Amino acid sequence: MAPTRYVFLLAIIVFVNFHGQTKAVFSVSGLLDILKVAKDVTVALVKAWDLVDQNIEFSEVPIPILHSTEKKLYGKIDRINSQLQDLAARVDNIGTQSMTTILHSLPERVRLELRLNDLLDYITRMDANYRRMQKYGTGDKTYERLTLEDFAESVISHDSSSVVNLVERIHAFVVPNGRGISDTGLFDLLANAMQEVEGDMICSTKQSPQQVLYNLYDAIALTELKGYTMIQFSYMLLRLYGKGNFTKEAQNTRERYEERTNNAVNSVRSAMENVSREFWKCDPKKWAKGESYEEITNLLQGYVQNEVDLNPEGTCRENCAEYTFTKSHGCFQNLYCRQQRTCSGKILDCKFYDSDMWICNANPLSGRRYEFIEYENGKVMGRKQGCSRGTTKVESWWRWLFWHCSYCFCLCDEQGPMSDRYINMRSAISDIKNNKVVTGLRFVKKNRIVHLQIQEGELLPRLNINASSLAWKPVDEYKLTDRKVFNGQDYHTLTWEKRRMDLDDLEADDGHMLTGVRFKEIGSHLNFEIYTTKFDFDTGKLKPEHSKWKDNPNTDVSIKNPRTKVRLVHPDIPIRSTSPSIPTSHSDQYIEFTNSDIDRDVAQTTVPFLDAQKVESLEAVPLSGAGIFHKGRQFFGGFIAPKIITYDVSKFLKAAFPTEQVN
Ligand SMILES: *[C@@H]1O[C@H](CO)[C@@H](O)[C@H](O)[C@H]1NC(C)=O
Ligand SMILES: *[C@@H]1O[C@H](CO)[C@@H](O)[C@H](O)[C@H]1NC(C)=O
Ligand SMILES: *[C@@H]1O[C@H](CO)[C@@H](O)[C@H](O)[C@H]1NC(C)=O
Repeated sequence: MAPTRYVFLLAIIVFVNFHGQTKAVFSVSGLLDILKVAKDVTVALVKAWDLVDQNIEFSEVPIPILHSTEKKLYGKIDRINSQLQDLAARVDNIGTQSMTTILHSLPERVRLELRLNDLLDYITRMDANYRRMQKYGTGDKTYERLTLEDFAESVISHDSSSVVNLVERIHAFVVPNGRGISDTGLFDLLANAMQEVEGDMICSTKQSPQQVLYNLYDAIALTELKGYTMIQFSYMLLRLYGKGNFTKEAQNTRERYEERTNNAVNSVRSAMENVSREFWKCDPKKWAKGESYEEITNLLQGYVQNEVDLNPEGTCRENCAEYTFTKSHGCFQNLYCRQQRTCSGKILDCKFYDSDMWICNANPLSGRRYEFIEYENGKVMGRKQGCSRGTTKVESWWRWLFWHCSYCFCLCDEQGPMSDRYINMRSAISDIKNNKVVTGLRFVKKNRIVHLQIQEGELLPRLNINASSLAWKPVDEYKLTDRKVFNGQDYHTLTWEKRRMDLDDLEADDGHMLTGVRFKEIGSHLNFEIYTTKFDFDTGKLKPEHSKWKDNPNTDVSIKNPRTKVRLVHPDIPIRSTSPSIPTSHSDQYIEFTNSDIDRDVAQTTVPFLDAQKVESLEAVPLSGAGIFHKGRQFFGGFIAPKIITYDVSKFLKAAFPTEQVN
């Protein structure tokens, strides 16, 4: 993987992209339009032939008639141009970008890279030719006939760099004919490679792997269509200038084009059927609380308390480990207990480490109680850095020589203003009445409650989404203290007993789209659900009466696929990880909110965090499902994150030219 090659490539790509972005960002054409346009253009070109194919010898007609025919021909080509330009706006923005980012995601695949490199080169050359034709095709008679003739001849020549040869070479990438570089088509190669590097691919392309394949196809198909238009235009020009008949050549070109198009559709469809349609967000460069992540706070927190205060009698007869479930019963002689926030909730899982220690108290506003604790025996919990507030010496004592009043290290489960531990259970449903579907997801915290917010957009015919209608639907802004807002109905309160979240990917039935999400309680678990609505492909209309919730009701004790736990091993604060998160869970699992590791963080933080980045693909598309999963690294708490599953477009990719028409 020679770095110079990348630089070179990057240059091409920046160049190509730059051209794309000078055009309108919101094109009028959309997903799946390429096939329709290909058909329209083929018909338009056949009609254009009627202009020049009137059994007249153009070399003998008077110049004015020749000019007026020329003008009409240019007019037709111009109309085709503008149709292709609409497509090009979308393809330049999305297809070309896909190709670039694929290259970056597959650095080790030199062979594949080489092929894509060539492909990009061919596409660039084709575009250059096409721009030349557009210039000539505008029809203002400033170009000499000789120039046009020369152009037309170069397009159809047998020269290896002619357009006629370029279209075949590009096609050889897609559907190998045995003469190509490989026996496997581009899309199959890519589909295989994608399975290996799925994560990287998603990070860089901002699309699901299936979208990447489709957008790449779009770019190639558009290029082929440009080539085809140029070839036909050239034959017509030459015919007009009396250079020959070319009826047969034009006919062959059309047949070959239709065959290529059908082959390419079949090839991309079969590759698309097998690649993932999932999309989720990779870690941002820098985590920012409230923007890219949210936290559940103080669910279980490390807490130092003397045994004497852990029992109602104020005795020191037991040892720390006896106190697995208790509460604070006082503050004996106003010792260390006076210097910290008392735990007014449950005190759990106490342990004895050593009698005497230095405690570095944290800034109370941070939500932490301690920055670090250093025991006399040398053990340190947390990160021992400078302690701006000064450390406090905390010493256990003997009572009448028999009983040791030890300081225990416990966990505190305390509800209150310091602890945000609420998860919305109201449903978030798109505006189905106005034909809107869910196109994106993200976690947000509002009034201390975590919500799964939806992005919605208007569904248009043929799986398109109206880009100007896209918006994040505001979450229900209720407060815990509002009247008629109830725990277990409007929201779920995480506690030591109820702190599990199910991790599932859910998909709508065939012909249905994602229109909503929510969490519900199953036992002590929070369980994810999706709302799905039937739709009509051609009209893009939703059928609200055919809507339903879908879930995965499996539990830990289900006979089939019982849920398993995603275990966090000595989890540190997730944003401390220097390696990017990778998915660690699959459907039929759950994760438990818990305290961070005692050694690494004095158990001061609640993990996992919630990834709050917007999960939306580069181009808004309808979704067939969504999921909740966990991503992270070993020895870090990681993040719970939403994923989206893009609608399966492959089902609607059909050969543009049914074989009976090709003859
Ligand atoms: C061109 O060739 C086709 C068939 O090969 C024929 O029908 C047509 O008359 C020819 N046109 C001219 C102007 O020679
Ligand atoms: C797609 O997957 C199915 C089953 O998983 C397999 O039989 C089929 O050969 C695969 N197709 C391609 C094109 O890889
Ligand atoms: C797209 O949405 C905008 C804003 O909601 C609306 O004005 C426009 O008519 C919609 N376009 C289509 C094609 O429905």
